[in-house]
Amino acid sequence: MEFDTKTPPYLTSDKSSFAYISARDRWPVIVTQAIDDLYRSVSQCEDSEKRDEGKKIVEELSRLKYELQHDRQLTPIRDDGGADVALYNTELEQLGTPSWFNIPWLFCECYLYRRLNTSFRLSTHWKTYDVFYRQKIKTFRSSRPAVIELAARYRDLVTQIGQNKKTGTEHDEAQKILFFEMCEICLWGNATDLSLLTSLTYEDIQKLQGSEARKASEKNILVNDLAATYEVLKKAKNEGKKERRVDIVLDNAGFELYVDLILAGYLLSSGLATLVVLHPKSIPWFVSDVLPADFAALLSALADPKRFYETPSDDEKLQDTIPPPLPEKDAADLGFLFQEWARMHAEGQLIMRPNAFWTHPGSYWRLPFMEKDLYDDLKTSEVVIFKGDLNYRKLTGDAAWDPSTPFVEAIGPLGPGSGVNVLALRTCKADVVVGLKPGQDEEIRATEGDSDDNGARKWAWSGKWAVVSFSEGK
Ligand code: F6P
Ligand code: MG
Repeated sequence: MEFDTKTPPYLTSDKSSFAYISARDRWPVIVTQAIDDLYRSVSQCEDSEKRDEGKKIVEELSRLKYELQHDRQLTPIRDDGGADVALYNTELEQLGTPSWFNIPWLFCECYLYRRLNTSFRLSTHWKTYDVFYRQKIKTFRSSRPAVIELAARYRDLVTQIGQNKKTGTEHDEAQKILFFEMCEICLWGNATDLSLLTSLTYEDIQKLQGSEARKASEKNILVNDLAATYEVLKKAKNEGKKERRVDIVLDNAGFELYVDLILAGYLLSSGLATLVVLHPKSIPWFVSDVLPADFAALLSALADPKRFYETPSDDEKLQDTIPPPLPEKDAADLGFLFQEWARMHAEGQLIMRPNAFWTHPGSYWRLPFMEKDLYDDLKTSEVVIFKGDLNYRKLTGDAAWDPSTPFVEAIGPLGPGSGVNVLALRTCKADVVVGLKPGQDEEIRATEGDSDDNGARKWAWSGKWAVVSFSEGK
């Protein structure tokens, strides 16, 4: 397409790529899990009309899985009223209506979730059903120890910020360390070992240069531009800019959304931002991505944490297990978080701004040309934080760049001069990676045992390594 990278995108036909592995091994499992979830809901249906319609959708998903597994040509997205249907079908035509194993990975994976969604949007009784909802809330509920520990530490921190009158470099140094801590927790998202956190009392932080665990985790962060990012936010604050906005283009629901809100709450409490705009998806996407309903579900869980954690889930009922009671102290810490976030949301400091662009098939190279209003809106932000792997793939066009290509080059029209400050907080779960030092990719391949002859960059598939890349576009 005319606005895309000249560097070729990763293709599902490339057997040395995670594109191929995803298509062959992961997508059939994801569709099967969707079928199982829907079947479970259908079997609980009282209304026969809704039940019959649900069974019809199960058949459609089974057909999709068959086409995928037998490498059939992709079929046009049926018109379900979505403005993006034409976008998907035009691009499918321009690609020559290829089959599942001979197509750009990024387009095909977006097509998969958009195709899934048509079966629900074309229905009468299942229009807004989210086949991934059960998985998302279950993951969040199973992160209970990490959720509670982080709530307690966050409460200490915000209380200290409120009481602390330190000024000058001492204050600034402590705030910078905290900023790094919060961003690194946010980066690792569902890493539930909270050993990333130092004890968060202000005094301790001023002494600490970061916990041992943080040092250990830092060695897996291959690019770390947090210092430059912090300077941009600090400068805007010191210049006395009245409204200082930070955007978070969200990734996954559950624990990752929880830590994103922890970061947002910290940015607002510390004064590094006066407004945080969250960008969720508008349809069920890549299994765990955030929908507005997931934000509501998280807040309602925190509004009554004892009910949320002490009411047995369907699985616990089946296994006849009683969830452990929630201690009063933990319930109070979670309640504090709820009050904080509900207040920020009520006061308009923390807002959700959906946009269909985030579930379009193309890369973010197209943003300035295809979604000018959103592009202009993002320009008013001090920093736009893009969370997770898919966002990174879309920023870089999911193209087979040389890994030493500068990040600012790989993000094309969103780079220097774009008017947008871009921060990617990305744990690597795909082939594309840029901004490495020359030879660094080869080094990691050697240590991770990837130096086999088929050239697969397997180390970049595991989520074990991360890049924190910043581009100053203003
Ligand atoms: O790794 C498989 C995959 O589906 C990738 O295609 C995609 O980029 C990623 O998972 C989604 O990860 P994240 O939720 O971090 O964007
Ligand atoms: Mg995701």
